[in-house]
Amino acid sequence: MRATPLLISAILLIPGLAGLLGWPAAGVARVQGPCSDCHTIHNSRQGEPMTYFFDRDEGQLVTGGDPNPALLVTGCVGCHLGVNSAGSMPYVLSLEEPDYGLTGTGGNTRAAGSFYWVAHGQDRKGHNVTGLADWDRQHGYTPPGGTVLPAQLTCAGAAGCHGSPEVATPATALQGSHHQEKSGWRDGGTVATSYRLLQGVQGLGDPSFEWQPSASQRNKYYGYHRSGSSDPAPDTISGFCARCHGDFHQATGDGSPWLRHPVDFDLSQGEPLEEYLGYNGGDGTANPYNVAVPLATADTSDQVPATIEISAGDQAVVMCLSCHRAHGSPVDAMLRWDYKSWPANGYNGCGVCHSSKN
Ligand code: HEC
Ligand code: HEC
Ligand code: HEC
Ligand code: HEC
Ligand code: HEC
Repeated sequence: MRATPLLISAILLIPGLAGLLGWPAAGVARVQGPCSDCHTIHNSRQGEPMTYFFDRDEGQLVTGGDPNPALLVTGCVGCHLGVNSAGSMPYVLSLEEPDYGLTGTGGNTRAAGSFYWVAHGQDRKGHNVTGLADWDRQHGYTPPGGTVLPAQLTCAGAAGCHGSPEVATPATALQGSHHQEKSGWRDGGTVATSYRLLQGVQGLGDPSFEWQPSASQRNKYYGYHRSGSSDPAPDTISGFCARCHGDFHQATGDGSPWLRHPVDFDLSQGEPLEEYLGYNGGDGTANPYNVAVPLATADTSDQVPATIEISAGDQAVVMCLSCHRAHGSPVDAMLRWDYKSWPANGYNGCGVCHSSKN
């Protein structure tokens, strides 16, 4: 077991690669700047190797290592490692503990949370992705509800989440999508036109990746009420999770109520209806959206409404990310909030939907 390697020599990295490279200004939804900021043609500059990688034991970026695919100066973690601030550069891991707060909506994490906790050996608090965490001691390479992956999880590709699952190498699986414009509704047609480069998934990404989000400045997740026992559709965000986890919360035969919690279920179909029309203190006609307990929608417009009309249907869909963060959180099972510690601490996210139980 490695002891908290990330804490060592944190100073060496700051400002690190982010300072070196030309990160986009807020609002520019693709990479920009001189090619040489991010690519190296011969993997050598003034006799020094030009690749950086994130050394978990050293807890810093170091030069050396094998050349990266796409002639990049570093891998996914090298570029996406840093402390978030306002702006559009999404950091998914930092050397110091992020400020998550009770719900991860007011500090310095973004929509997917952070890999920080799982990178510190807390297996239940994130996806154990290669290069930033050891493999999960409990689950191994098997997603609960699904079938074993060919290897430990990677950021992208066949054993990963982003890009094309048909391509083995993570950088290649992204297919040049970093260079393409990514604003407006994503229809899932190609990697670059998929929500957060998750191939085939629809949605609308907040350009700041939910930096301190609000009801009208947030991601818009795609989903709709499904009938009977059909699987979540692959272009919905729950369908994306189901690619690996199967229909996790719909599985039968297990005693745990969590395994049965409805997903891709619209609040307008709930019983008793008043309970769900009361989402976040509304009456079903104009409920204020709560970014700590997000809902999916079938509305594919570019509008991001601050209130939702639940009674209209398919605007308030329970999805995997209503309760979970995609990368990780300080709470077990990568939950968005610690409902078990409520009311002393934690946050009653369950009660936002189960409005008669808050
Ligand atoms: C050389 C640096 C660099 C490398 C290497 C890199 N990224 Fe990025 N990535 C960026 C920058 C810069 C942005 C922000 C562009 C923007 O504002 O949309 C970005 C944005 C993203 C986004 C958000 C896209 C969106 O929806 O707007 C995802 C997802 C992503 N990267 C995943 C990856 C994965 C997975 C890898 C490894 C295969 C990777 N990145 C490697 C620099 C890099
Ligand atoms: C801020 C970082 C950044 C800058 C600047 C940048 N790139 Fe890239 N580029 C990436 C990343 C990350 C990938 C790999 C992931 C992907 O393909 O999305 C990539 C992939 C590529 C690829 C292979 C994928 C494809 O499109 O076929 C080519 C070619 C490429 N870049 C060329 C260039 C050129 C030419 C420039 C300068 C005009 C440049 N890049 C500037 C980050 C950058
Ligand atoms: C590419 C496959 C893949 C995808 C897609 C995927 N997961 Fe996972 N997930 C795994 C694997 C493998 C594990 C077990 C190992 C681990 O935790 O890293 C896991 C574990 C988990 C866990 C348990 C964490 C723990 O250790 O207790 C949760 C919760 C979870 N995933 C939720 C999600 C959600 C929500 C999504 C969609 C946003 C999702 N997963 C998408 C592969 C995947
Ligand atoms: C995004 C909204 C939402 C959130 C958040 C939410 N629920 Fe639910 N929950 C629902 C809906 C909708 C139903 C289905 C009602 C129906 O079947 O008529 C439901 C059903 C249930 C059921 C009944 C399951 C069954 O098989 O009948 C339980 C128990 C439950 N939720 C507990 C919780 C707990 C505990 C949490 C917090 C960890 C939670 N819920 C969070 C919307 C939500
Ligand atoms: C209503 C809230 C809610 C929704 C929606 C939800 N989950 Fe969960 N999930 C939970 C809770 C709570 C736990 C933790 C149960 C526990 O710790 O006993 C959990 C646990 C898990 C685990 C971990 C199981 C393990 O063995 O560690 C996985 C994997 C998972 N969920 C995947 C999903 C996927 C995939 C979806 C969407 C298809 C989803 N969840 C939707 C609340 C939810």
